[in-house]
Amino acid sequence: MQREQWNSRIGFILAAVGSAIGLGNIWRFPYMAYENGGGAFFIPYLFAMISAGIPFMIMEFSLGHKLRGAAPKVFSRLGIHYGLRLEWLGWFQVLIAAVIAVYYVAIIGWTISFLGFSFTQSWGTNTNAFFFNEYLQLGDNSPTSLGVFQPHIAVPMAIAWAITSLAIFTGVRGGIERASKIMMPLLFIMVLVLIGRIVFLPGALEGLNYLFQPDFSKIMDTKVWSAAYGQIFFTLSVGFAIMLAYSSYLPEKSDINNNAFMTVLINCGFSIMGGIMIFGVLGYMAMEQAKPLTEVVTSGVGLAFVTIPAAINLLPAPYILGPLFFFALVVAGLSSHISILEAVTSAIMDKLHLPRKKAAALVCGSGFIISMAFATNGGLLLLDLIDYFINNVALLFSCFIELIILTWLFKIADIRDYTNRLSEFTIGRWFELCLRFISPAMLGIILVRNLVNTVN
Ligand code: PFF
Ligand code: NA
Repeated sequence: MQREQWNSRIGFILAAVGSAIGLGNIWRFPYMAYENGGGAFFIPYLFAMISAGIPFMIMEFSLGHKLRGAAPKVFSRLGIHYGLRLEWLGWFQVLIAAVIAVYYVAIIGWTISFLGFSFTQSWGTNTNAFFFNEYLQLGDNSPTSLGVFQPHIAVPMAIAWAITSLAIFTGVRGGIERASKIMMPLLFIMVLVLIGRIVFLPGALEGLNYLFQPDFSKIMDTKVWSAAYGQIFFTLSVGFAIMLAYSSYLPEKSDINNNAFMTVLINCGFSIMGGIMIFGVLGYMAMEQAKPLTEVVTSGVGLAFVTIPAAINLLPAPYILGPLFFFALVVAGLSSHISILEAVTSAIMDKLHLPRKKAAALVCGSGFIISMAFATNGGLLLLDLIDYFINNVALLFSCFIELIILTWLFKIADIRDYTNRLSEFTIGRWFELCLRFISPAMLGIILVRNLVNTVN
């Protein structure tokens, strides 16, 4: 069977960007920056982007391109060269991807529901009670009643599955590439329109001041540096099988260095747009409610489903800006979900020599069934638990192991030679320096920190 291929360079970049840009750019990055020194956070963030993000992306693109497989095949082929068995590392990454696939879809489901509510702001004025009690049905349920199935959560999840599975079934060109070419430009336009309106709201600039005002006293704090590194790996979707699978569909002649720089820069640029959008709205909200900004800042689920709906209530033309915001979230989420599913599907195709449609049916079918565990009123608790473990331990561990194996057992300089031969501009020895020393050291420190924090 001939391996599928991207149709165009821009198609590949948009798909990679579609994976990287996700809910994290909109609800994780702004808060991270705010928490960790505001404008001063950009220094560690840029440092992490250059020393870890870009080299890691180049490395994964090169491996996928050269070894032509999903993660298990890539690592097993790499190991064979040196008489080592490394396929397990690929499966470990695929397992992480599979776990993310089943809970990420729950959040996309919520965003689809909230897109529906946003047209009339049917979440009412007490958005906190609405989200937790009415929507998630958390109320004052006792732990024994947490497993109650919630059809109103299951239906939007099924819609998300229908869209993402369609892309996976249709394949690399007709499905993933075509979806990315529609979704990514749409996402940028929607966010630009939102920003264009939001920055002119009263109070918005004070919000942006909070985000960008540097607190240089934080720059020597190791917590800030670990936050920056953690955010870079998460935001770029590296280290969990996704970018390996996507780059295995690159044509022979591909400029890897350029593609990697583009993907990283577009993603990080979008994060800054996300920050402007969120903090503009929060600044407006603080002004309207005559509260200090620190009292309205939240992150994650609370930001998207409690604070933002409350802010939308206060906006001019909420029936336009509200749906725009939630539609942007839906699109950002769906394109990331497609990439996680593809990471798993391509691994199954490789291993079992299944045609795409059969592998897709297996992955999407079982994923759909398992994800229904999140369509219960215990869904949020389960999700928090798994999300914490994945983000703080599994993902970093996987990146750490990948780096150690690749840079200490193999000659990472070979990868640099390989990618430089393919690319218009070449990268220097800093590439090895970053991947052998700086990134593993930082990852090691963060991992230990997180493990200690978890135990406490
Ligand atoms: N890179 C995504 C983001 O920043 O939101 C994170 C992500 C999560 C990507 C889960 C893919 C994924 F399956
Ligand atoms: Na991202």
